[in-house]
Amino acid sequence: MGKRTRQAESVTERVPQLAAPYVQAVAEALERHGEQPGALLPVLHAIQDALGFVPEGAVAPIAEALNLTRADVHGVVSFYHEFRRTPPARHSLRLCRAEACQAMGARALERHACERLGIHDDTHRSADGTIDFEPVYCLGNCALAPAGLVDGELRGRLTPKALDTVIDAMRADCRNIA
Ligand code: FES
Repeated sequence: MGKRTRQAESVTERVPQLAAPYVQAVAEALERHGEQPGALLPVLHAIQDALGFVPEGAVAPIAEALNLTRADVHGVVSFYHEFRRTPPARHSLRLCRAEACQAMGARALERHACERLGIHDDTHRSADGTIDFEPVYCLGNCALAPAGLVDGELRGRLTPKALDTVIDAMRADCRNIA
């Protein structure tokens, strides 16, 4: 039996309720990074890279494997905003809120996006659940402000019209796979 299979079985034994597709990702992250000093962050990043988030059920096996408490692992997952605790939406839209982009109308652009996405509170997901929307702070694309990330791809000189096109395309994609 290979090391990876044993690692996955070990994770399954520790948290039988962890969904099967997640077990392998957690096992692989622990196998790859579990022995290194300060392993927690690399393990969490590897899980997030593989799944798009860190499942609640991953906390226990990570804590046990790294000889930490569950509270330690929880604390780190909740402290760093980059770690998601729920599965991501199919698409993501991030708009820069930093100074150069603000000077070029980023706030108005954000209001426009929230209106189009049906976001009227602190949630970061469109009303139809298809698009995650989050602010970012300087993408290094200030010369082309206002800037944003469309499914991780850097865009510049964004306008309400350009955003409408992006949002329409994302929604059309979701309709096509429904
Ligand atoms: S301020 Fe927005 S990309 Fe730099």
